[in-house]
Amino acid sequence: MFESLPKLPNDPILGLSIAFRDDPNPEKVDLGVGVYRDASGNTPVMAAVHEAEAQLLKAEITKAYTAPAGYPGANEAVQELAFGPEHPALAAGRVASVQTPGGCGALRLAAELIQRARKGARVWVSTPTWANHVPLLGSAGLELKEYPYYDFERHALDFDGMMAALAQVPAGDLVLLHAACHNPCGADLTEAQWRQVTELASERGFVPFIDMAYQGFGEGLDADAFGPRWMAEQLPEVLVAVSFSKNFGLYRERAGALAVVGADSARAEAVQSQLLSVARGLYSMPPAHGSALVAGIWASNELRQRWQSELSEMRGRIQTLREALVGSLAATVPGQDFGFIARERGMFSFLGLTEAQVGQLKDRYSIYMTDNSRINVAGLNLDKVDYVSRAIAEVLRG
Ligand code: LMR
Repeated sequence: MFESLPKLPNDPILGLSIAFRDDPNPEKVDLGVGVYRDASGNTPVMAAVHEAEAQLLKAEITKAYTAPAGYPGANEAVQELAFGPEHPALAAGRVASVQTPGGCGALRLAAELIQRARKGARVWVSTPTWANHVPLLGSAGLELKEYPYYDFERHALDFDGMMAALAQVPAGDLVLLHAACHNPCGADLTEAQWRQVTELASERGFVPFIDMAYQGFGEGLDADAFGPRWMAEQLPEVLVAVSFSKNFGLYRERAGALAVVGADSARAEAVQSQLLSVARGLYSMPPAHGSALVAGIWASNELRQRWQSELSEMRGRIQTLREALVGSLAATVPGQDFGFIARERGMFSFLGLTEAQVGQLKDRYSIYMTDNSRINVAGLNLDKVDYVSRAIAEVLRG
């Protein structure tokens, strides 16, 4: 039966790690997959996570199934993290939430829930958006449409284009938004723009579906959650897919959550039961370990503070790298302004290179990034900045 299935190429993002690993060049630089690296080039286990893990190992007495919604305490943690502890939607019991296998699991669960609620619903995604949004949502049967988001010429958000397109979105469709640290472009909505999109959603009746995979990597934990918090206050329905891969460094644990804000507590209760039923039919229940660590950190003032200060150190390091790269490019490519890289936030920015130039960076300099010239700034290191900017200057000279 499998003779009908051709061998597929590697994933356009994850495949870069394999190519990088196999490259013998000692100068190689991995700006591909969105993974944070410290000054030694490692993706460390955060100290708060290490400590929570040690405590968990001591206290854990069973590996029996956990609750279908996930590890006890993890949903309270995610609700407070995403919405803030005093949020009126939480007080009103309007939020349903379950732990999921990573942020991808949350997106997929949301897609299946949307299919149950409104079969064949359309989801509007930004151009560009994270490459995996398309298969994750599309393979659940949702029709995807695009709205303009990033102006590649100006290296800035195309807010007018976005609003003009969203003004045509019919009631009942969903609009996928990135809470902060837009993947792949790093250009985010300001608070004023979030308010305008919220007003439009209210007027048009479309439902925001927010991917929050980088909370804490942009401006801070609260500032990065402004969009979901504001929308959950102003609108009857909002979906928020949360990932703990980046901000807790739990990549391989596959820890995440889906929070769905309903019009009232009865709707939220119904949605909660639907989420459990969808998850049961997909993977039964979420993995417990990563969620247990998040819950443990959230429950302890000391660990929570340690985690927050580690996270702000990571955020600071990325900003330092952004500024260093801009400074170095100003010297090596004097005719071109790369200042946008320092203004953008999170792990990613586009260099604005052609696919052929990206290929040259890989083949001649062993510098890896996705074909659309998205770089993971967090994969850079201060001692590699000049090497990378000189290589960019070379390929731009042709
Ligand atoms: C990325 O965009 O590089 C990360 O979100 C990792 C992934 O799974 O694609």
